[in-house]
Amino acid sequence: MEIKLLPLQSHGDDRGSLIALEEGKNVPFKIKRVYYLYNTKPGVSRGFHAHKNLKQVVIAVRGSCRFVLDDGDEKISILLDNPAQGLLIESGIWREMHNFSEDCVLMVLADSLYSEEDYIRDYNKFLQFHKNIGGVHDSFFK
Ligand code: TYD
Repeated sequence: MEIKLLPLQSHGDDRGSLIALEEGKNVPFKIKRVYYLYNTKPGVSRGFHAHKNLKQVVIAVRGSCRFVLDDGDEKISILLDNPAQGLLIESGIWREMHNFSEDCVLMVLADSLYSEEDYIRDYNKFLQFHKNIGGVHDSFFK
């Protein structure tokens, strides 16, 4: 499984740093939603779901956290700790987030509005989705 890290150009000068995110330029989809996780309590892990359709780009704008991505065949783990890197998560990927640093602010850009219908929160259903990908009707999950 390939990790898709998007390099984000930082416009730094002696005042500090600035990164711009633009759909179709450094973000490979139309940005419909932005949310961020912060104040994550020590020892807490989050995520534990996949999306049927949603694509996301995740950026640790401050601090760090460890992502585990799973495509149903293989799991990879990556430490996100660089605001100049975006982790692209395609649809159909199980994700877990661990080891949040106390100062971690994790910003997520998404190509759709929030929809609970798009979530797969059961790992066994995710594995079945992965096996049947392309051929499964949505009603399978209801
Ligand atoms: P949740 O899916 O539990 O987050 P995580 O996958 O990081 O553990 O979401 C927490 C709550 O926030 C839940 O009640 C749904 C809500 N929520 C929204 O209202 N909009 C959003 O865009 C997201 C991502 C979550």
